[in-house]
Amino acid sequence: MITKQQILVMTALASVVATAQAATIEPYNLYQTHCSKCHGESGAADSWRGYLFFARSFRNKEWQSKHSNDELLEKINKGPGLMPSYEKTLTEEEKKALIRVIRGFGS
Ligand code: HEC
Repeated sequence: MITKQQILVMTALASVVATAQAATIEPYNLYQTHCSKCHGESGAADSWRGYLFFARSFRNKEWQSKHSNDELLEKINKGPGLMPSYEKTLTEEEKKALIRVIRGFGS
């Protein structure tokens, strides 16, 4: 027999688990939420916004080798051209995770 109290404990536990999951960074989810509409699902900037806003492809090996992580961080903070600035909207951890996602597109 499950008592009312047990049900309450279970729902409380379930919400704790849900919050804990939301707190861990899912790098690719983060990319999809904030960046893929312009930079494309696979970093190729092959979305209509990518074309429209002249975003470049992150899949290009030459582009990858020409830019340091610090440079990428600076661009994410500033938001070059038509890209919004993420200086305040993303945490340092999130930005680092996104740089790893971008690097992943080049390999
Ligand atoms: C509104 C469209 C848009 C969104 C959303 C967007 N960007 Fe951009 N991004 C651009 C444009 C346009 C440029 C400038 C052209 C270029 O360099 O690709 C750019 C440039 C960049 C650059 C520098 C490229 C270079 O060679 O200098 C990086 C790094 C970057 N974006 C990362 C991100 C990340 C990470 C996100 C998500 C947090 C994001 N962008 C979200 C449109 C966008």
